[in-house]
Amino acid sequence: MDSRYQRPTGTRDVLPPASEQLHEVQDRALKVARLFGYALVDTPILEQSAVFMKVGETSDIVQKERYQFQDAGGDDLTLRPEGTAGMARAIVENGLYNEPMPLKLCYTGPMFRREKPQANRYRQFTQFGIELYGADTPESDAEVIDVAVSLVSELGLENPMVRLNSIGCAVCRPNFRQALLNYYRPLKENLCDDCQRRMDQNPLRMLDCKVDVVYKEKAPTPVDYLCQDCSDHFVRLRELLTAWEIRVEIDKFLVRGLDYYTRTVFELWHDTLGYGIALLAGGRYDGLLGQFQGPDLPAVGFAVGLERLVAAIEMPVRPQKIVYVAHAPNFQQQSLAFARELRKRGLAAQGDLMQRSLKAQLRDAAKRSEIVIIVGREWEEGQVVVKILESGEQNTVSIPQAIQAIEGS
Ligand code: HAM
Repeated sequence: MDSRYQRPTGTRDVLPPASEQLHEVQDRALKVARLFGYALVDTPILEQSAVFMKVGETSDIVQKERYQFQDAGGDDLTLRPEGTAGMARAIVENGLYNEPMPLKLCYTGPMFRREKPQANRYRQFTQFGIELYGADTPESDAEVIDVAVSLVSELGLENPMVRLNSIGCAVCRPNFRQALLNYYRPLKENLCDDCQRRMDQNPLRMLDCKVDVVYKEKAPTPVDYLCQDCSDHFVRLRELLTAWEIRVEIDKFLVRGLDYYTRTVFELWHDTLGYGIALLAGGRYDGLLGQFQGPDLPAVGFAVGLERLVAAIEMPVRPQKIVYVAHAPNFQQQSLAFARELRKRGLAAQGDLMQRSLKAQLRDAAKRSEIVIIVGREWEEGQVVVKILESGEQNTVSIPQAIQAIEGS
């Protein structure tokens, strides 16, 4: 096939049955969110590019991975790379900050990042995320982490591990930043290109470097510089998670790739996905709403790639049972009417749309159904033939009996 007609690199055609799994996972995520009281919000997939500058001009997803373009009217638009910034914009634009607090919202839909495609990393992927606004308590961080843990448990992934850190706030972060610069500056010549750039723009990300790991080991870490409030918050959060028997590992180098985080940052890991990649990630971002000219509401949330959840679980695919309503010659119209009647009763049914002979219909039915209804001469007496394909068993019964048999199958 001419490569111009192939799908863009890093995207996927999600075919059945994988498509069913993705939607099933999405439904279950929404179910868990509802259990905790999170309401669904749909924001546009396109936003004005300025919205994502608030995610962090120095983050990779803004600096290197953006799908940004000017439309015919000259608007500077970006395909959303994540959900938090658009939700913050929507909260301010729709005045949702006037709702009772805490405001608990969730979202799901496609996101776009021009990343290097690899296993579990796509250029178009589907996120589910929650955002809790208006509470700055450790209890709210704990709840958000609990939602994440509950979601993966709902999918049968037991005992996931939370990697947790605190990266401080506007009060204590500058001291840590200075300590980090004092440590790394004399080493600048030896550092990778990315870290040399990060040193000027966002030194915290140097702790995330996969290249300069040797220097990282002796580097100062955020927890050593937390102010009293941040430290108390972090201690209480850990106590809560321990009390709730959530498995936690403190990772003092965890800093995350987005600029908006304050205090808590976390990732959820599970060994089914291997130890190279996190299942989901999130944290607190107390300053974000203020940046959209909204009130300064504290916030905490997480997002998960649904494709990563599908990859991590073993979900049996239940093939959809569909009844095949076949017809003898001259009974097509009646058979289609019967298929419609079954669908009205919530029973999956399909009729012949190809003007096939009865024999050809039965051959077709064998590929997609377990039960065939044959509408023929008996229809005049209010009867149809019910044929069970596996056993070959075949009975002429009244229409209500046929419906009962399908309902019970
Ligand atoms: P993030 O860490 O950039 O955070 O992404 C969160 C999750 O989205 C990842 O852990 C992963 O499951 C999924 N994900 C990210 N990139 C890809 C990709 N290229 N392919 C497949 N899955 C991917 C955020 O997006 C924040 N907005 C999370 C958040 C919400 N923080 C607070 N509230």
